[in-house]
Amino acid sequence: MPKYKILITDHIAEEGMNILGDDPDVEYELKAGISNKELKPIIGNYDAIITRSGTTVTEDLIENPGKLKVIGRAGVGLDNVDIEAASKKGIIVMNAPTGNTLAATELTMGMMLAAARRIPAANFSLKNGEWNRKKFMGIQLYNKTLGIVGLGRIGSNVAVRAKSFGMKVIAYDPYIKKEKADSLNVKLYDDMEKLLADSDVLTFHTPLTKETHDMIRAEHFSLMKDNVIIINCARGGIVNESALYENAKNGKIFSVGIDVFEKEPATENRLLELDNVFVTPHIGANTSEGQKGVAVIIAEQVINALKGKSYINA
Ligand code: NAD
Ligand code: MLT
Repeated sequence: MPKYKILITDHIAEEGMNILGDDPDVEYELKAGISNKELKPIIGNYDAIITRSGTTVTEDLIENPGKLKVIGRAGVGLDNVDIEAASKKGIIVMNAPTGNTLAATELTMGMMLAAARRIPAANFSLKNGEWNRKKFMGIQLYNKTLGIVGLGRIGSNVAVRAKSFGMKVIAYDPYIKKEKADSLNVKLYDDMEKLLADSDVLTFHTPLTKETHDMIRAEHFSLMKDNVIIINCARGGIVNESALYENAKNGKIFSVGIDVFEKEPATENRLLELDNVFVTPHIGANTSEGQKGVAVIIAEQVINALKGKSYINA
């Protein structure tokens, strides 16, 4: 008889489910896409839940936690989990921070190139029967300055790759040591506004917190260079969406690449109307390697936590 019941509320890679399935102490169920209304009355029947960003774990959802002991996030961001409320109920919250680092890094690099050469708009134009080479004049990345906000796992990997393109890389991250930036040959700024003013390309790699929410607002755009490129593969709401819309529309920004939105799914977002804004539906972590990575890590960590063994968390 399995000792632990685990509910998976979002699709995770098969490799993670296999780990759960192979453990004789574990019985798991998959209810991907389950709503909070459906989940609330049954959540207490499970020892752990595993989710991605599809479930928002609110204080209300875990009001009667029953035997729930662990909430595992198959990914990095824990902004969809009320950690304080979970802690008050004695529930461990864990993520899989390293599994999708390169997936998000590579999407960021792809977006940077796509923005500099307006690849999505050029693709759209030709597929609509237009042959207009003049319209799609790009910007060279070589010798340009990349400003990274948040020099953690993804930010650092972006820095390394941007260096290989011959970019100058500067960063703002008040929580890291200067030695870390030095080791990456990145100039660390202690003034974010100065970084915004010095950058040709800006990319954001912080978590979404009270501090980073609306970190970039209308007044910050006036500090930026004209024709700046902006990439956000971290979280919607770090760059204020209204300000981003206005500055993409008025031509201050050359091109914007966004994977994440304040409200997701973002099918109604007005940013989608602008030619110099290109978007993806929160696919930063979506490589087979990235999804396997987070699923395996979270399955192992959740089992370890339930069995009282040590687990790594960030
Ligand atoms: P990380 O914890 O390694 O790095 C985050 C960095 O942000 C840290 O160095 C931290 O010091 C810094 N930071 C925190 N607050 C800051 C602030 N106010 N100003 C400047 N820097 C600040 O995390 P990571 O693995 O690099 O991931 C970063 C974020 O990317 C995640 O939190 C997640 O939200 C997002 N993400 C998105 C996708 C996607 O699918 N689009 C995939 C993976 C991660
Ligand atoms: C993350 O925080 O890991 C990403 O947003 C990926 C995801 O939720 O799928």
